[in-house]
Amino acid sequence: MDPTRDRAWETLTRFTQREALRRHALAVEAAVRAYARHFGEDEERWAVVALLHDFDYEIHPTLDKHPQDGAPILREEGYPEDVIEAILSHANHLDVPRDTPLKRTLFACDELSGFVPACGLVRPDGIDTLEPKSVRKKLKQPSFASGVSREDVYEGAELLGVELDDHIAFVIGALRPIAPELGLRTAATAGA
Ligand SMILES: [Fe+2]
Ligand SMILES: [Fe+2]
Repeated sequence: MDPTRDRAWETLTRFTQREALRRHALAVEAAVRAYARHFGEDEERWAVVALLHDFDYEIHPTLDKHPQDGAPILREEGYPEDVIEAILSHANHLDVPRDTPLKRTLFACDELSGFVPACGLVRPDGIDTLEPKSVRKKLKQPSFASGVSREDVYEGAELLGVELDDHIAFVIGALRPIAPELGLRTAATAGA
């Protein structure tokens, strides 16, 4: 099976009902897709991996099951091994080597794609005017969006070989077009 984005969305939404988790999948997809375009890689393939990386989190919310117990389900669904391996590589506890640009990008975008919308939630215009500087400041406040691993954010940028500010700016730019889908206000809706 050559997986399509539509197929991945269908799988994701069959296993994931929670809005927050679907939004996380969409955010990571947007960031990873933007990097695929940037690197001239297979955008559809990268989008499939990004959309599905936490597909089993709702049914497997603990690290003794997520994401490893999702792999047989994806295999059953007909997803190819390279897609499954890339998904498994986002989990630190599985020690799957991040030895491809896709794996490095997924890891680098995962936590940050959650953190950037969190920064936008407390701003009147969402992420419209959000800048790396203020994201970095929030990263240094441990109580803000405390579920986001700062270590993974810093390590991700390093792994990808990009400056943290550039990486943050890139992710913000990738998320802006889908801000409404992420539940964020925009300048256009600020007064509404
Ligand atoms: Fe995960
Ligand atoms: Fe994730």
